[in-house]
Amino acid sequence: MADQSIHGMWSSRLMFVLAAAGSAVGLGNIWRFPYVAGENGGGAFVLVYLGCIALIGFPIVMAEIVLGREGRKSPINTMADLAKRSRRSTIWQAVGWMGAGTGFIILSVYSVIAGWVMAYVIRMASGDLAGADSGSAGAAFDGFTQDAGSVLGWHTLFMILTMFIVARGVGRGIEFAVKYLMPALFFLLLMLVGYSVVTTGPAFGEGLAFMFSFKFDQLTWAAVLLAMGQAFFTLSLGMGTMMTYGAYMPAGASIPGTAAMVAILDTTVAILAGIIIFPLVFANDLTGSTGPGLMFVTLPIAFGQMTGGQVFGTAFFVLVSFAAITSSISMIEPACAWLVEKTGFRRPMVAVILGVIAWVLGLGSALSFNLWSDVQLLGGLNFFESMDYLANNIMLPLGGMLIALFTGWMVDKSIVRQQMAVSEGGLLFFLWIVRVVAPAAVFVVFVMTLLG
Ligand code: PHE
Repeated sequence: MADQSIHGMWSSRLMFVLAAAGSAVGLGNIWRFPYVAGENGGGAFVLVYLGCIALIGFPIVMAEIVLGREGRKSPINTMADLAKRSRRSTIWQAVGWMGAGTGFIILSVYSVIAGWVMAYVIRMASGDLAGADSGSAGAAFDGFTQDAGSVLGWHTLFMILTMFIVARGVGRGIEFAVKYLMPALFFLLLMLVGYSVVTTGPAFGEGLAFMFSFKFDQLTWAAVLLAMGQAFFTLSLGMGTMMTYGAYMPAGASIPGTAAMVAILDTTVAILAGIIIFPLVFANDLTGSTGPGLMFVTLPIAFGQMTGGQVFGTAFFVLVSFAAITSSISMIEPACAWLVEKTGFRRPMVAVILGVIAWVLGLGSALSFNLWSDVQLLGGLNFFESMDYLANNIMLPLGGMLIALFTGWMVDKSIVRQQMAVSEGGLLFFLWIVRVVAPAAVFVVFVMTLLG
């Protein structure tokens, strides 16, 4: 087993946690979770989501890190190596390939939305949205996304920033950024929770009730699939990101301990984002089911009414931009590591090649809100919705299921034992989950969704 990766290493256990949390905490928590929960009835969705995090997500985070730290390479080569060492078919590396492909799809969509976020930094700072109410904030959002030119411009800028940081490498880029940005993001989130409690009055209770009252009659298998997909997406799971970050993790750090911290931080941020957004929805007579625009409509209203709102609002969107960047980098890092290993090309060149591919794919999503809004792909969904659906609800859970099966059934048990470094009982429990429970859960949800 190598104790270093050729791509660099996190300088400590804490830096691994911050980088992995930086990947996990992103638009998935602040932008996607509230709107998907809102569209699916709130409470029941949230409960299933939490269940998926605990039962499926958390064990697979550990599985990915186990593989990554053992292999110390890109997911494609790590899976090939571990298969060989365990005398299994190297066809398993196909899971790494699928993950790399999923990464492009996710990044392409992500970059477009992160572009919106950056545009909102400027709009907030300019005072454009000062005093916004539910009508004007909604109109401002629609007007912006229908302007193909500026959406494309912001998409381009975000992709350039992503390529730039990936080009700088593991230590100097990511580690430096997350060290300062993650604590700041937490601080601002807490401040906004406080704001939401103080200003929304009775709507605060309504918002909480919407998130936490479990109305099971609203729960369909399609919604369960969405909750499971969201659990994978928010934990950066099922496509090799955690495997790649695990490859850069120091040897001594505990995998269950660090994985738990990442999962807890990520879940906390999602719940806090919901606690901020839903009371604002109810206090302003909006509806929770407005789709991808939810965050872009509610937060400007909140900041628009608040003293110092211009400054805080700007700061908030800046921090969401950084949260997005610390995630977007981790989407092409698996492919980047592979191409560096494969070709020996220098990282900056590889980063640019990969970024350009994702940028081109992103054009489809950018145009879905304007010029191509009538173009339909999967079952009546537009391009953006199709990419989002395919990646989050199918490819990530499928990838995660295969990673769990690979870890549980294919890799030599002695490797898993050594990496997990838990008691024998703990090891058996972990193996039982990744062999049976997590894959079966994903399988059942797939089948039930297909059957309707
Ligand atoms: N976890 C990130 C978020 O919640 C998204 C992500 C998915 C990042 C897959 C990397 C890999 O925003």
